[in-house]
Amino acid sequence: MSSIKDLNLASKGAEEINWAARQMQVLEEISNEFALSKPLDGLNIGACMHVTKETANLMMTLKTAGAKVALCASNPLSTNDSVAAYLAENDIEVHAIRGVSNDEFFKHLNLVLDTNPDITMDDGADLVTLLHTDRSDISVLGSMEETTTGVIRLKSMEKNDKLRFPVVAVNDSDTKHLFDNRFGTGQSSMDGVVRATDMLIAGLNVVVFGFGDCGKGVAERAYGMGAKVTVVEPDSVRALEALMHGYEVKNSLEASKIADVIITVTGNKHVLDTQHFDVMKSGVVLANAGHFDVEINLVELKNQSSEVNRVRDHVESYMYKDKEVLVLGEGRLVNLTVATGHPASVMDMSFANQALAAEWIKENYKNLESKVYTLPKSVDQKIAATKLKLMGGQLEILSDDQLNYLDSWEFGTS
Ligand code: ADE
Repeated sequence: MSSIKDLNLASKGAEEINWAARQMQVLEEISNEFALSKPLDGLNIGACMHVTKETANLMMTLKTAGAKVALCASNPLSTNDSVAAYLAENDIEVHAIRGVSNDEFFKHLNLVLDTNPDITMDDGADLVTLLHTDRSDISVLGSMEETTTGVIRLKSMEKNDKLRFPVVAVNDSDTKHLFDNRFGTGQSSMDGVVRATDMLIAGLNVVVFGFGDCGKGVAERAYGMGAKVTVVEPDSVRALEALMHGYEVKNSLEASKIADVIITVTGNKHVLDTQHFDVMKSGVVLANAGHFDVEINLVELKNQSSEVNRVRDHVESYMYKDKEVLVLGEGRLVNLTVATGHPASVMDMSFANQALAAEWIKENYKNLESKVYTLPKSVDQKIAATKLKLMGGQLEILSDDQLNYLDSWEFGTS
């Protein structure tokens, strides 16, 4: 039995899911193949993902492949209740309600694990963590991980010999992180900031904390909207890359002084803390686009504020000492709590990887160790070639002579 908000929302969910499907044609091709080959026949899949219209298309693909699927949310504020209702009506066990308490959220994760999944799928490694703690009685063939933060956790488990089963780091496929993390996070995070504030971005000082794939995407989109972009980054190569892109590069304190908007995308905790709040301008807007809500120290911000008021949907005003600090989406992923996540066209490639990773685990689990794997590069090439063609691009074909030249070492200066 599913735990959802309201089954009557299912028809609205169908509209949303069908709309996303129009832009998810790589996944559709895989789904059509899976309908014939049924590669996941008889398997239970337990997924902990953002319950969006794009995720729904992935869940339906897994079902088409023959799997029995149970889904819970990977963030208490990212669930689309209409989508959840549609899936529940279509034979997917769903435990996800937007805005649930933390206790309820973890209850939902446990309900998914109660289905005894053969394969799990995470966005942030929460199911895998439970499978190594409270639910270590459950054995799975393998798991898949969607996001950078989750992969970092998993690699740490592998390094410390704690991992109990193989995991595919879907995030590390080129057709995932080079597109979803960059173009997806870039667009959806700026979308979240604009939806929450209705502010003109042009001319503002936008500070981006973190210049990984996601930070790069956010900086690019903010710059494209006319912002003066400053990057804060602890890795010198990345910091230099940001500088040569034309952004200002400053340390966190200096950047905090000038910021009109700060977007954190670091994967680290408390990158904005009291020493930063102390120097910020009054009216500064803070948003987080990193996976967990730990990047802004909201506990201290609240403790040291005389008043906290919701001034409009998704915007909380903290009267911190002598100034006002505005926080979007409770410091949770601004792109999913305020906006609706990455556009379907980019999730198409991420979820094509997820679907193929499930098939790959089913085919290979007997030969896999308890390690973090990436999918073969041939999968990236296939997904990229399909997407390129669908988007109207043409691939250059090299002649045999050119291929031989690239393979040879004998030819130098002539
Ligand atoms: N992560 C970021 N955007 C997403 C989306 N649209 N669906 C599922 N997971 C996401």
